[in-house]
Amino acid sequence: MTLLSCLLPFVLLASFQFLTGSSLKNHHGHVQRGKPMFQTNQTTCALFSGTWVRDDTYPLYKYSDCPLIDAEFNCQMYGRPDSDYLKYRWQPLGRVLPRFNGLVFLSKMRGKHVMFVGDSLGRNQWESLICMVSASAPKMKTQMSRGDPLSTLKFIDYGLSVSFYRAPYLVDIDMVGGRRILKLEDIHAHGNAWRIADVLVFNTGHWWSHKGSLQGWDLIETGGKYYKDIDRLVALEKGLRTWANWVDTNVDRTKTRVFFQSISPTHYDPSEWSTRATTMATKNCYGETTPMTGTTYPGTYPDQKRVVDEVIREMYVPTYLLNITMLSELRKDGHPSIYSGDLSPAQRANPDRSADCSHWCLPGLPDTWNELFYAALFH
Ligand SMILES: *[C@@H]1O[C@H](CO)[C@@H](O)[C@H](O)[C@H]1NC(C)=O
Ligand SMILES: *[C@@H]1O[C@H](CO)[C@@H](O)[C@H](O)[C@H]1NC(C)=O
Repeated sequence: MTLLSCLLPFVLLASFQFLTGSSLKNHHGHVQRGKPMFQTNQTTCALFSGTWVRDDTYPLYKYSDCPLIDAEFNCQMYGRPDSDYLKYRWQPLGRVLPRFNGLVFLSKMRGKHVMFVGDSLGRNQWESLICMVSASAPKMKTQMSRGDPLSTLKFIDYGLSVSFYRAPYLVDIDMVGGRRILKLEDIHAHGNAWRIADVLVFNTGHWWSHKGSLQGWDLIETGGKYYKDIDRLVALEKGLRTWANWVDTNVDRTKTRVFFQSISPTHYDPSEWSTRATTMATKNCYGETTPMTGTTYPGTYPDQKRVVDEVIREMYVPTYLLNITMLSELRKDGHPSIYSGDLSPAQRANPDRSADCSHWCLPGLPDTWNELFYAALFH
């Protein structure tokens, strides 16, 4: 298991020299020619275990310099009073994460199309990446087209497009006779739109467990039959296998790189991170201002993540798991809580019911996901 998870990225790096040509720069900017790519095996493997360390050179951009940030992620604009949560850097075990350089990103990705596909956590990461790149090149001409399901920001001088494609289940969901049918074996309506991308970053998870008024479908279709509900983990696995099969049969592994953002954790249960939980004033992430110390989160390994790990392990097209679950679990302080612009004043007055402990503030944690994405792409 450990060996496999370490080998996968290494196989991937070896087979994807196309983005950078035959030469790669090392951390000091020196070009290395003709050296075997597999020397990165250990370092890549160690990216996702580590600790959060205080670093006053962060954040990488200011919210006021990035007008694109959606209200629901724009914590400082909506009154978040503390700022320590912005001053942490992810320190992997045994190596330093390369510093994100937007100009390097632009020039290496010239003429390419990077597409995030999934739910609002993918949108969180998409907006973060655009803010990070824009901060390095503030005068750059850009063009935004917003739509549903596809929104694209184009960096015109570099011909680079960075998109978000909304598909919370990845598989298709169709309206039939006024009812929303989630089709666990169907993905072509969405998939056709993904073919233009050179780099795809997928995610899914949260919508598979939503119930009641938050549930996104009326019926599930699988194996030619319709169901009001089925076991949610079984549904996730069927949907993911449909997705994996689409990738394996439609993605040219010599031209397109595929990433999967692992499950992004929520913080609605303080007993996971505090022994004082029973005496605490609030019932979620509200009021949390510092990350957990140490390298592991005391909560349980999410069942959904086990399913994701297994499906990805069995794929033919090497899919790089952006394994951000654990490092994000340590960031109970990173959520919008009541400082989401989507909340009404009445909701803000009631943190127990309304705090958003699922998305992440920008600037904030998704910037680290993108530093890892950057490291996986180029280092
Ligand atoms: C890469 O992994 C292989 C096999 O595990 C090992 O023999 C080799 O020493 C590693 N290379 C580096 C540079 O760590
Ligand atoms: C993901 O990273 C965690 C540490 O953060 C590690 O325990 C786990 O094995 C990794 N999972 C995979 C599939 O690589």
